[in-house]
Amino acid sequence: MNDINEIQTIIILIIIIILIKHIELEELLIASYSIEQEEEDFNILPLNLLYSQHNKEINELKKLNKLISNYWFNEICLNMQAFEFKRHFRLTRSTFEWLCCEIIPLLRRNSNEPEVNRITNGFKITRNFPNVIGAINGSHIPIKAPHLFPVDYFNRKGFYSIVLQAVVDHKKKFLDICVGWPGSMHDSRILINSNLYNKFNNQVTTHLNNKYILGDGGYPNLSWLIVPYKDIGRGLTQEQTYFNRKHSQTRIKVEQAFGLLKGRW
Ligand SMILES: *[C@@H]1O[C@H](CO)[C@@H](O)[C@H](O)[C@H]1NC(C)=O
Ligand SMILES: *[C@@H]1O[C@H](CO)[C@@H](O)[C@H](O)[C@H]1NC(C)=O
Repeated sequence: MNDINEIQTIIILIIIIILIKHIELEELLIASYSIEQEEEDFNILPLNLLYSQHNKEINELKKLNKLISNYWFNEICLNMQAFEFKRHFRLTRSTFEWLCCEIIPLLRRNSNEPEVNRITNGFKITRNFPNVIGAINGSHIPIKAPHLFPVDYFNRKGFYSIVLQAVVDHKKKFLDICVGWPGSMHDSRILINSNLYNKFNNQVTTHLNNKYILGDGGYPNLSWLIVPYKDIGRGLTQEQTYFNRKHSQTRIKVEQAFGLLKGRW
């Protein structure tokens, strides 16, 4: 089981590295693809995109990102010398390929019901917190200042980053990620723009049947996402304080998962 966690951690990391490489690759692509100025600006996600109501723009952006990913993977990554590959990814190409083969069956999700029960039971047993299907948080992945929209990427901790939003289970296994939004973007905004939100909000929530994801105070309290009680000056009741303590002890799994992910590399 631990092996599975480690493998999943590695694949997430590879995704992150690929994303970071996008940004480094910006110039190269402009030269070889002769992207129009207008399109080039979509290369990096600007915050103001969020204020535009045009799905068309977002789709264009996704298309372009895919193009960049494919180009990077097929033209750059696959042509790397063995030593370059190892330097970038800290594992050899043959290990990488072996990992991919190992991972493929794990990425095929079987139907959700037993999985959901496994997780809620897990949280119940380890943390004595009922009906929890995951813990969510964001983590900042440092990047070099991008040429486009650098301000958007400057986070409140004082460095340039892209955000990794993740939901993990009681074993610190990543269940869902959303990566790529600029560092200055607020956690709740990232959530609202993620597939997770889309899926959970649009789904008939009876399917979830009073099961929740736990998030910290940076997230909105929703029918499927529970945040701690806020002290708005009147103090908290004993029950609320107790609830918040249990909530935080349960949520810590996501912090530990980020720790493992980063520690490994
Ligand atoms: C969050 O929503 C739930 C209902 O889904 C409610 O019971 C709980 O009190 C709310 N928590 C806060 C902190 O508002
Ligand atoms: C969530 O992330 C925020 C900021 O990135 C951090 O301050 C907080 O401790 C994290 N909370 C948990 C429970 O992981």
